[in-house]
Amino acid sequence: MARTLTIDGQEDTVLAEASAVLARGLPVAIPTETVYGLAADATNAEAVRRIYAVKGRPSINPLICHMSDLAMAEGYATFDPLSRRLAEAFWPGPLTLVLPLKPDSPIARETTAGLTTVGIRVPQGFAGALIAAYGKPLAAPSANPSGRISPTAASHVEAGLGERLELILDGGPATVGVESTIVKVEADGTLRLLRPGGLSADEIERVAGVTLTRGKAGAAAIEAPGMLPSHYAPRAAVRMNATEVRPGEAFLKFGADSVPGEDKAAAIFALSASGNAAEAASHLFELMKRADEAGVTSIAVSPIPSTGLGEAINDRLVRAAAPRPGPVTDEGTS
Ligand code: TXA
Ligand code: MG
Repeated sequence: MARTLTIDGQEDTVLAEASAVLARGLPVAIPTETVYGLAADATNAEAVRRIYAVKGRPSINPLICHMSDLAMAEGYATFDPLSRRLAEAFWPGPLTLVLPLKPDSPIARETTAGLTTVGIRVPQGFAGALIAAYGKPLAAPSANPSGRISPTAASHVEAGLGERLELILDGGPATVGVESTIVKVEADGTLRLLRPGGLSADEIERVAGVTLTRGKAGAAAIEAPGMLPSHYAPRAAVRMNATEVRPGEAFLKFGADSVPGEDKAAAIFALSASGNAAEAASHLFELMKRADEAGVTSIAVSPIPSTGLGEAINDRLVRAAAPRPGPVTDEGTS
């Protein structure tokens, strides 16, 4: 059973306790503005192997390296001018940049799953302070069993992984609510969107001055391998773009207009009554879990425009709705 420490009001104690657990090569669950992460010393191969083991994550799926600031990141990866501009504009924040690893970088092979590139981001809030205090980058995937919904509260981490962890840091609910946006500047200078997320494509394009390329590069079958079809799987089936609710379904509602069949819903959860995508993103995973816990066999979801954070929301919903490779269990599907 994990110990949960509330950060608020005892930051210095928590920094010391978390640093001590990290130094022993054990993972610690930490809050970030996107989702909770399962963090370990990115330079310690044994510690990183424990992350994969705790999550039941395939070891071919590389982890994001979290840094305290751009200066720290420059020590581990080579920045092209466009990547540096994006880092200066959006760090700390929900943007991950895939960059070439520096030769002889001390980042463990296990962190990058043997790739010559590394995904880097600088998180907001306490996580950044923890990395600065610890003095080394932290590898951290989302703190959920592989294949399940990402955690946006310490209680979600406890429910999914509590028995396999020593320490969970509670920083309150994640404010963004979906994982970071992942981009990569390719050798030919194009800017590729590897995963839509908590920073909208149009904000990135405004700073970059170029249009993002979507879709996989030729040889890159596993370019952002977390992007497997049935990620974020609740137990119930997910029915997107629902313009009516079927009897007994749970309903994730976007907007205020009443929808045919609503009165027969088992439960209704408001993603955003005002139709605001950022608000809906911040509630998405929590409400998917609650809808699932209502014990229904199907979750209907309102249509959500794919603009702004709607792109990330629809990406996660498509994965949640995808056919499952096998029975979904708490041990994960992958
Ligand atoms: O917001 C987030 O990004 C959260 C918080 C904890 O920071 N982390 C997160 O990690 O979502 P995870 O492991 O669930 O997703 C990491 C994604 C995977 O799709 C992985 O394939 C991709 O990042 N990735 C990591 N390193 C990469 C690399 N070198 N090249 C391409 N994709 C990479
Ligand atoms: Mg994840």
